[in-house]
Amino acid sequence: MDSIAILDFGSQYAQLIARRVREAQVYCELFPWDTVQEKILAIRPKGFILSGGPRSVYEEGAPFIQEFIFKTGLPILGICYGMQALTHALGGKVDSSAQREYGQAEIQSLVSGLDTLAAPARYSTSAHLLMSSLSSVWMSHGDRITELPKGFVALARSGNSPLAAMGDLQRKYFGVQFHPEVHHTPNGEKLLQHFVMDICGVKPEWTPASIIEESVARIQKQVGDQRVLAAVSGGVDSSVAAALVHKAIGDQLVSVFVDTGLLRKNEGEQVASAFRNHLHSELIAVDASDEFLSALQGVTEPEQKRRIVGEKFIRIFEGQARQLGQPKFLVQGTIYPDVVESSAPDRDKAQKIKSHHNVGGLPEDMQFELVEPLRYLFKDEVRAVGEALGLPEALVWRQPFPGPGLTVRCLGEVTRERVSRLREADAILIEELSKAGLLGSRSSSSSTAGQQSLSTSQAFVVLLPVRSVGVMGDQRTYQEAAAIRAVTTEDFMTADWARLPHDLLARVSSRIVNEVEGINRVVYDITSKPPATIEWE
Ligand code: XMP
Repeated sequence: MDSIAILDFGSQYAQLIARRVREAQVYCELFPWDTVQEKILAIRPKGFILSGGPRSVYEEGAPFIQEFIFKTGLPILGICYGMQALTHALGGKVDSSAQREYGQAEIQSLVSGLDTLAAPARYSTSAHLLMSSLSSVWMSHGDRITELPKGFVALARSGNSPLAAMGDLQRKYFGVQFHPEVHHTPNGEKLLQHFVMDICGVKPEWTPASIIEESVARIQKQVGDQRVLAAVSGGVDSSVAAALVHKAIGDQLVSVFVDTGLLRKNEGEQVASAFRNHLHSELIAVDASDEFLSALQGVTEPEQKRRIVGEKFIRIFEGQARQLGQPKFLVQGTIYPDVVESSAPDRDKAQKIKSHHNVGGLPEDMQFELVEPLRYLFKDEVRAVGEALGLPEALVWRQPFPGPGLTVRCLGEVTRERVSRLREADAILIEELSKAGLLGSRSSSSSTAGQQSLSTSQAFVVLLPVRSVGVMGDQRTYQEAAAIRAVTTEDFMTADWARLPHDLLARVSSRIVNEVEGINRVVYDITSKPPATIEWE
């Protein structure tokens, strides 16, 4: 399949470039800028995109474009630092003392003037295509180009950057000072699309059907006639991974679902029915709620709760694997952002705020060979594949749920009674949001940044270990409080609290207090992330 190689020079937007290219149904992979030639050329790219980055090309040890990239003779698009690196490598000048330009800028295309340069018609058409849909763009740079390399012409200018875009129309090298990959550059995705399709000549073949076909062949080749084990958590990734493997090898797959007793209402049944009825695949459901709850008894410290659930899950899963005769292979729902994060250049290891773990993830000391069918897919691609495989919509479009489950939403001690109280309250919130059409779905991932969408990306109830006085039917009550958490977000790294309609909040509050035994007060969390996190623990 045709592909594009994206070289990551340390940009916070590098993954976004890859997502935009994939959205154009073109396969691409992201490589740290200094990846060895064999690895990059192994995907047989038909062009290169160079990402932005935090450095200056004149700095000691600054990332650069490896020579073999030019030798391939393939088209190159440099974005921000990528454009500067291109300029530096080809003999132009980058001014490192220029003022920082950050934010929205208007650009003016200079492409129509190219006719006078007698560029071959088809090349000026390429340049025209590249620039035609843009006017407002997102800039974020300190350095800028002050002298074009030989063979290049200016394709656009902005108030601050006389050379906001450039191109060498013979060699098909292009550079843009702005970021076409971010939402703040309207139509930026069209520029990327034009580059990969019209200039690199890549065909849009990366569709759910082709992804499935390719994965099935790869899985069959990897596992042969061996048995494969999958841990299904109820989340999108582990379910789609198991569904893909099932399509490839049928009954050689055994899926295990561990019911931790810490799931949302009806979650266990939904997963079991999706597997049995939609995939016609065997699913072993293990009820381990007693074990989890007794391990959590008396524990209130958030990190300790998380560790206990993670470890317990591994032990239970190990036991299941032994009972099943220790299959050689284990399905893992690793997705592309996990892979990219672990190999990205120049990014400091983020400070650990919470120990995230994926229940259903790999126990490190277990002797399995991994089958990772989603390793090269973004979340939206995972969902599209899930739908194409026939998984029910409710499962494929489900909101994220943390590995440690309701443990981290049941503040204070996790008892059966309190978890059940929380689960009932949560189900009311979800039901009301769903009825109002406000439960995050397809629209929340494609909403334009800056535009306040009402739909929630994640919404849930948190049970607080706080009691307050109330009055119900002339009786004094002294019961626990519940908090509603509902956020809108693109990437879950930052989030804003959802501006839910007041009458909806009123309905949810009234229903929780009336229908759930033990809760007499409901509050709404109006904190964004940062400074808060999405979950409370
Ligand atoms: P925070 O609370 O850190 O959450 O703002 C960001 C997103 O991650 C989810 N989350 C987890 N997911 N294992 C997971 O797989 C975990 O341990 C975990 N903890 C939080 C959270 O629900 C939100 O979507």
